[in-house]
This record gives sequence, C-alpha cells and structure tokens, in this order.
Amino acid sequence: MKSEPVGKRRIAWMPGDGVGHDVMDAARIVLDAIGFDADYVHADIGWEFWRREGDALPARTIEALRTTDCALFGAITSKPSEEAEAELDPSLRGLGLVYVSPIVRLRQLFDLHTNLRPCKAYEGNPLNYRGTETSPVTEPIDIVVFRENTEGMYAGVEFYPLPEPVYGALCANPRMTPWADKGLENVALSTRIVSRQGCERICRQAFEYAREHGRRRVTLVEKPNVLRKTGGLMTRVFREVARGYPRIESDEANIDAICMWLLKNPQDYDVLVAENMFGDIISDLCAGLVGGLGFAASANIGDDYAVFEPTHGSAPKYAGRHVVNPMAMLLTVRMMLDWLDESSLAGRLEQAIAEVIREGRVATYDVKGRGRGDSTLDVAREVARKAIGA
Ligand code: IPM
Ligand code: MG
Repeated sequence: MKSEPVGKRRIAWMPGDGVGHDVMDAARIVLDAIGFDADYVHADIGWEFWRREGDALPARTIEALRTTDCALFGAITSKPSEEAEAELDPSLRGLGLVYVSPIVRLRQLFDLHTNLRPCKAYEGNPLNYRGTETSPVTEPIDIVVFRENTEGMYAGVEFYPLPEPVYGALCANPRMTPWADKGLENVALSTRIVSRQGCERICRQAFEYAREHGRRRVTLVEKPNVLRKTGGLMTRVFREVARGYPRIESDEANIDAICMWLLKNPQDYDVLVAENMFGDIISDLCAGLVGGLGFAASANIGDDYAVFEPTHGSAPKYAGRHVVNPMAMLLTVRMMLDWLDESSLAGRLEQAIAEVIREGRVATYDVKGRGRGDSTLDVAREVARKAIGA
C-alpha cells in the first residue's frame, strides 16, 4: 500500500488557505515535540496562487510532491466559477482559465482512490452527539467512512452549455430527448461515472480495513433503486467483494435512509463505504455526531502516495488568529504517522489527544464557548506535553 520506510522522511508541507496555516503550526509543534524525524518541503497551493498565477495547484507543487513520501495539507478556499473569475489578477481574466479545486485535482493526479474518514466520539467531548456542555454524553460512536475519491459525481466531467455532439450521443438513451426542447444552451450536465475497477478498489479497501482492525460490519451507502446503472454496478461489486470476507457482516443502505438512521442509532454503524459524493455527504454527517469538523480527520490514500488533510475548510474570518480547533489536524497527523508505519508515535499521539479531550482543561472556543477558548497553539502544546509524558 505504500513505499518502504526509509530513515528520515520527506513530508510535503501545504498549509493552503486561511486557517490551514494555523492548524499546520499546531501540527508542527506536535511533530517536533514527539521527535518525528523529517524534512518538510514547503509547497504552494490554494486561492492565492489561483488569483496571482491562474493555477491553485502550480506545476512546481506537483513536482515537489513527487520527491516526498506523503503530504500534509491544511485547508483550501473554493468558490464557484463566476467569483473565481472575478478574483483573478486582471491580466489573467478572459483567458478561459477554469478554477478546479486543487485537492480534487491532487486526488485524481496521484490516483488517491481511498478517502478514509474516521469519526469517533472521544470521551468527555461536550460536542458529542446528544451531549451538552453541562451533561456530556459519549455514545459509543466509532464509524469509519471509506469514500471513493477519484470517480463518481466529482470526476469533473461536466458541460454547460450542453454541446450538440454530447447531446446527440446521450440520445442513445431516449430519456434524453426532452432536453432539446429547453434549448441546449439552457442545459447543464454533470455526470456520475463509476468503473468496476473503482468500485472494487474502494470496497476492497473497506473490507481489508475491517479485517485488519477487527471491525464487525461494512455497510454500502448507495441508491441503486434510482441510480440503476452506477448504483447497480457498485452494489454488485460490493456483494462480490463481501463474499471474500465471510466473517465480516455486510449490508446495504440507501443514502437518504442512512442519513436518518445515523441520527437515530449512530452506534449501530461501523465501516461505511460509498461513492465520492455520497461519501462526502455522510462523512460530514458522521463528523457532526462526534463534535463537528473540528474533530474530523481524513486521509487520501493511493497505492504509493497519500495526502493527509483535516476535513474542515479554510474559515477565512478566523485566519491567522490561532483560535480554531487543531484536533482535526492532530488526528490527521496521527493518521499520517500510522500510514508511515510509525505506530508507536501514532499510538502516543492518539492517547495524548484522547486525554486532552477527556480532561477538557485546554480547549478552543468551539468546545469551551466564545471568549473562554484557549488558542490553537495552546491545545497543540498540551497534546505535545502529554505525548512526551512531560
Ligand atoms: C471534502 C470537501 C471537498 C470535497 C471540497 C472542498 C472540494 O468538501 O474534502 O470533503 O468535496 O471533496
Ligand atoms: Mg466535504
């Protein structure tokens, strides 16, 4: 799944936009304190490079990443097409440059097919589902989402207006014909393309993870009763893969139904596997059950490269103020250490994070309330202190 460990690591360091910088500062405090031996290679990515150069993921960044073991990434600002065009440097406007989210591009360029998003309720977190600050509840929620990361609705195959030859080809399906009456210049099309290979990879990753981590059940999240072709293929492949893991239970849920069931009985779910967009949706929902995006870590994993990123966005209004919760980033660092086979460092970091959350002595404003929060860096220092047993 990854390259052999080779002494000192080379980690691509990509703060990106907004609070990406704040949480990367927190990551560095912890990595330095626990003695992680690495060179950090700074790489440009984000909105600033879109505005100045017309490219949020410059070619030099892609080259730099190729010289590293893996990348740690902060956060990104993404805006819809018209705003993106309007914010470009005047010399770059009108050239037909198209903004594409650089993280989505990275996932595709490096074939990072598996987006792994663990959502675990840590004891004592007042933001846990159905808890309050004065009566925290820790339901045993420990869900891991496997989101397909390169195909599906987010593959980027889209058209507007709809070109005549595309329309012509789509008319192989008679359901397409009514759109011509609306005028093709009024029609927008986003496609949901999945392949047997893509479905197989993500389902296999989910079952392999379940086997390695002693998980009891893998649930497919789809909608094959309506999305008969793409959802149908994913469902067939899921069943084939499941047959190879007779000791792990498997079941299937529709995306709409599971959004309700996750809110009613979150403790019933274990490993979830889904296509790109459905995985995007349920991973935010699951994050909401365990404290929100401030606690949501993620890893984009390919066969031999990985990009680690907290799930939260760049929160521009908090940028540079060091007030946001670094836990999502610190949990992301933990995933990176795991992937690099630094299991002892990963274990110490996990324990330290769990302790800091349980004690609740040092925590940011989202946990403690506005005006009472500690800084991003204070939380990182507290985690670092626990991790080295100081
Ligand atoms: C995520 C985010 C991204 C996505 C956006 C920022 C492109 O929502 O990582 O979940 O949709 O993949
Ligand atoms: Mg998302």
